[in-house]
Amino acid sequence: MGTPGPPRLGGREVDEVEGYISPVKRVAGWLRPAWVEVDLAAVTANVAYICELVAPAAVCAVVKADGYGHGAVPVARAAIAGGARHLGVAIAEEGHELRQSGVDVPVIVLSEPAPEAMRLVVADKLTPTIYTEPGLAALLNAVAAQDGGTPVPVHLKVDTGMHRVGASPAEVLELARAVAANPVLSLEGLFTHLAVADEPADPYTHEQLASFDRVIAALAAGGTRPSVLHAANSAGALVHPASRYQMVRPGIAIYGLAPASSMRGHPALRPLVPALSFKAEVSYAKEVAAGEGISYGLHYRLSASSVIATVPVGYADGVARRLSQVGGEVLIGGRRRPIAGSVTMDQILVDCGPGAGVKAGDEVVLIGRQGDQEVTAWEWAERLGTIAYEVTCALSARLPRIYT
Ligand SMILES: Cc1ncc(COP(=O)(O)O)c(C=O)c1O
Repeated sequence: MGTPGPPRLGGREVDEVEGYISPVKRVAGWLRPAWVEVDLAAVTANVAYICELVAPAAVCAVVKADGYGHGAVPVARAAIAGGARHLGVAIAEEGHELRQSGVDVPVIVLSEPAPEAMRLVVADKLTPTIYTEPGLAALLNAVAAQDGGTPVPVHLKVDTGMHRVGASPAEVLELARAVAANPVLSLEGLFTHLAVADEPADPYTHEQLASFDRVIAALAAGGTRPSVLHAANSAGALVHPASRYQMVRPGIAIYGLAPASSMRGHPALRPLVPALSFKAEVSYAKEVAAGEGISYGLHYRLSASSVIATVPVGYADGVARRLSQVGGEVLIGGRRRPIAGSVTMDQILVDCGPGAGVKAGDEVVLIGRQGDQEVTAWEWAERLGTIAYEVTCALSARLPRIYT
């Protein structure tokens, strides 16, 4: 046998992101015809649109949770190409992955890192969020353990009403004084997080912003002015101009998805392009006789003989087991077809109908477009009673990510 050619999937040559091949792609990417396709140009265009909309505010592209399942490093690069000046992650390890891949823009860890993580934060020049005194002490210890260098930028987080994480308005004034008084730190940012920005008519967002403004004023009265004030997630950035301050932190919108199903028709979201498709190929197809039941439990009974296609993805890949019970459909041959019977760990069955010309090797679109049909992440979310965030984050590492 000669040297194998470039990897191919779905009949197309795979387009690598320069210098980056995820480990799962390297070991398992080409052996099973099931994959997630990410359109990085869409991410770049989405970020460019948001940059233009919110200017002069800067954009911090949120790439936590492996870029909401899209792949953090390629998405980070695409977002930077679109104009993002900062990146946001949830945990220090995610920032470390970006640094290891050579991403050198400021990376904000959006929750206070655990004390054990502070050395990694300092070593990787990540920007920590701080909202407790023990957190500040841990950061100072980590800074003391490294030799010299420029002051570490810090963003303080104030809880203005979401009550997840963040110091109270009174506590944040104390923390700001402590940070400002310490020459190894620099108080770069102050931020908060909005609880209902995705419900544009809810006045609570204005109450949160008013509370944030009072904290900013109290700090200013004490002579402290962090240069980067920020509050807006995607929904804030898109539909609440007052929440933009010096920087916005969009996550879901950079992937081209609405923050809430109810926001999908909003004019501010129209330019966004979904970046993710989830595809596979039919692995097996056969005619099954009328009266037969299919998949575990045999709950799905055929009233007429039908072509049943097997698709090699299951709940271990992030296809929720419940999806077949709530009307989930896939696209094959440009048509919607029901997922039939129980979703199994590694495979689903699709009822293609009597005499359907579906055969092994045919393209299956689970999320994305085929012909003039489209299945969206929000369609899955609505069927499953969840949000598109959970759908894309659930697509497991077993599915290789292909970047186009
Ligand atoms: C602190 C913070 N900022 C920004 C975001 C981005 O939110 P979204 O994806 O709704 O834009 C998140 C995500 O949950 C977050 O936790």
